[in-house]
Amino acid sequence: MSMEITNVCEYEEIAKQKLPKMIYDYYASGAEDQWTLKENRNAFSRILFRPRILIDVSNIDMTTTVLGFNISMPIMIAPTAMQKMAHPEGEYATARAASAANTIMTLSSWATSSVEEVASTGPGVRFFQLYVYKDRDVVRQLVKRAERAGFKAIVLTVDTPRLGRREADIKNRFTLPPFLTLKNFEDLDLGKMERTNDSGLASYVASQVDRSLSWKDVKWLQTITSLPIIVKGVMTAEDTRLAIQAGVAGIVVSNHGARQLDYVPATINCLEEVVKAARGQVPVFLDGGIRRGTDVFKALALGASGVFIGRPVVFALAADGEAGVRKVLQMLRDELELTMALSGCTSLKEITRNHIVTETEMPRTLSRL
Ligand code: FNR
Repeated sequence: MSMEITNVCEYEEIAKQKLPKMIYDYYASGAEDQWTLKENRNAFSRILFRPRILIDVSNIDMTTTVLGFNISMPIMIAPTAMQKMAHPEGEYATARAASAANTIMTLSSWATSSVEEVASTGPGVRFFQLYVYKDRDVVRQLVKRAERAGFKAIVLTVDTPRLGRREADIKNRFTLPPFLTLKNFEDLDLGKMERTNDSGLASYVASQVDRSLSWKDVKWLQTITSLPIIVKGVMTAEDTRLAIQAGVAGIVVSNHGARQLDYVPATINCLEEVVKAARGQVPVFLDGGIRRGTDVFKALALGASGVFIGRPVVFALAADGEAGVRKVLQMLRDELELTMALSGCTSLKEITRNHIVTETEMPRTLSRL
């Protein structure tokens, strides 16, 4: 029996049935109590709309620009590691689906396809997500390769000096299946993951990733690349100001899909603070819990220049490969368009703070929702 998919969340159940437990758990998990994991979703449901009526919505324009690149909608793809565990075509399928939708894909450092392989899938605006290894020669080489392969920005992940405790991965002794490698590191002899008495990924991070990473390394990164640098994992006004001082080109408000520090707020609840501190100097993006077009609209109303999606991509890949990822992007696009129409917005710049109301602003009866 085949059932029609009508929303992004439905792919998760299919992925759960299809994938080995170790892999599904790795994709789905959050850190420790997974409070933030639930909160990333729940927080959206405490933001309601103030729709405007009797506005001609027969033409709706969702196009936007990100770092000067024109894209079809403010919905992009976050870096998620090891996509060939979900589907044999892994990152290729994601890259093709993103190009077909005319949006941006971010490739993970820990992809199971290399920057060159992903570039060879065809044209498309792509960003490269960077984990900074202790061995800076490794970093230098990797950034050069990403540049040469035509990637347009470095997305520096700043929330992972150590890996968060994802208890399912510890129980499952998670490791990269032996037929796969972290392709970007294959030639550097860092492409394999040992099976350890812990999460294999946590052990890998502990041995390779540089815990000493600090703002001075953001400066250093600027000396080895001319690509714009986006920092991913900012949650506060203080760090927003430091990021701007350091000369970054953009900020992603992210809690790593609730996989790092548990009991941080939902990203949607940190967004406005960061947007205010950025004072329009750099674009602010958001990821975490985006599953509906209404979520995208709420993020834009709170000042985001665009959003990124993580788990919906890996679950759709597992369920239906490239077609699944295409469908995820199409469904979110259609939902955002409908949300705009029903709120009386015909372009992204017409979406304002007045189109939504947050919990603290609600009349008392509503705030008990
Ligand atoms: C991630 N994320 C991530 N981030 C990053 O900077 N580098 C990476 O390699 C990965 N890998 C990764 C794997 C998996 C399975 C998940 C779920 C997440 C975090 C990711 O970029 C993004 O911040 C979150 O996924 C956004 O939240 P949602 O959309 O998954 O709720």
